[in-house]
Amino acid sequence: MKTWFITGASRGIGLEIARAALLAGDAVVATARRPDHVRDMLGEFGDRVLPLALDVTDEASIFAAVYAATEAFGRIDVLVNNAGYGQLGAFEQISGTAVSRQFATNVFGVFDVTRAVLPLMRSQGSGHVVTISSVCGLVGVEGASIYCASKFAVAGWSEAMGLELAPFGIRFTVVEPGMFRTDFLDELSMQWIDVPVAEYAEFDARRRSSVRDANHRQDGDPVALGGVVGALVRADHPPAHFAAGSDALEATVKRAHRDLQNAQQWRSLSISTDRSD
Ligand SMILES: NC(=O)c1ccc[n+]([C@@H]2O[C@H](COP(=O)([O-])OP(=O)(O)OC[C@H]3O[C@@H](n4cnc5c(N)ncnc54)[C@H](OP(=O)(O)O)[C@@H]3O)[C@@H](O)[C@H]2O)c1
Repeated sequence: MKTWFITGASRGIGLEIARAALLAGDAVVATARRPDHVRDMLGEFGDRVLPLALDVTDEASIFAAVYAATEAFGRIDVLVNNAGYGQLGAFEQISGTAVSRQFATNVFGVFDVTRAVLPLMRSQGSGHVVTISSVCGLVGVEGASIYCASKFAVAGWSEAMGLELAPFGIRFTVVEPGMFRTDFLDELSMQWIDVPVAEYAEFDARRRSSVRDANHRQDGDPVALGGVVGALVRADHPPAHFAAGSDALEATVKRAHRDLQNAQQWRSLSISTDRSD
């Protein structure tokens, strides 16, 4: 039986990862800003689920939750950095405060939770840190520059951490989902611009209507993704990156072709900076 520690387990992907782990017989520390909601959703699993309050932007709540999890289960085998939201809209229309808020949750929150859990995993000599990035952490998406920046950041971080922590038996996987049917594009979660610029009015209208059309109609199934994260954690050699969904897989393949073509096209200029001595 593994013990999971999941952030943002109140709804969407985090809730389904928690449910899948519980259905597989594991124990889950299901953390959320509203732990009562988790209790309502997962109460049927009794003592194997421990709902705890944790806001990833509040360091004290992170340490308190990791402490309580350790007291209850004695170990954490899997950390899932799931909590996050999308700050959408054109870059010029997003204030520095909104950018900081996005990074506080999607990037520094991930760092702080992982920093709190790693000493326990190192003392165990094992662990797996799964971080939910996005297709927006693989390729730039128009109207999502700040969200993309946050998800590229954790993708690069996770890749480097996988190398750094391998000697301690700790594995890192970054999951890059395409579009999944959760509240992600809903006003409940997604944040829009806070500094309107007249020249972007038409762009805004287009983007907003495509977000509205896609909201709660996405092709990706969070229940299936919950099971897939379980399969990744149980794999003997889990990948450093995992594309979730056909759209994410297509973006991964397109990006690989684009990078290869680009490298070949600019090869001689690239190597022209090497010293000859
Ligand atoms: N759905 C997609 O299409 C998609 C695609 C790619 C990546 N993702 C990523 O998947 C992750 C989960 O998103 P989702 O699709 O499940 O969206 P969601 O339904 O909006 O759920 C977001 C979850 O994150 C939590 N959260 C947000 N800020 C938090 C904070 N400061 N501290 C603790 N929890 C916080 C929310 O808690 P509350 O209930 O308290 O608000 C909620 O549990 C996010 O990292 C998102 O970027 C989603």
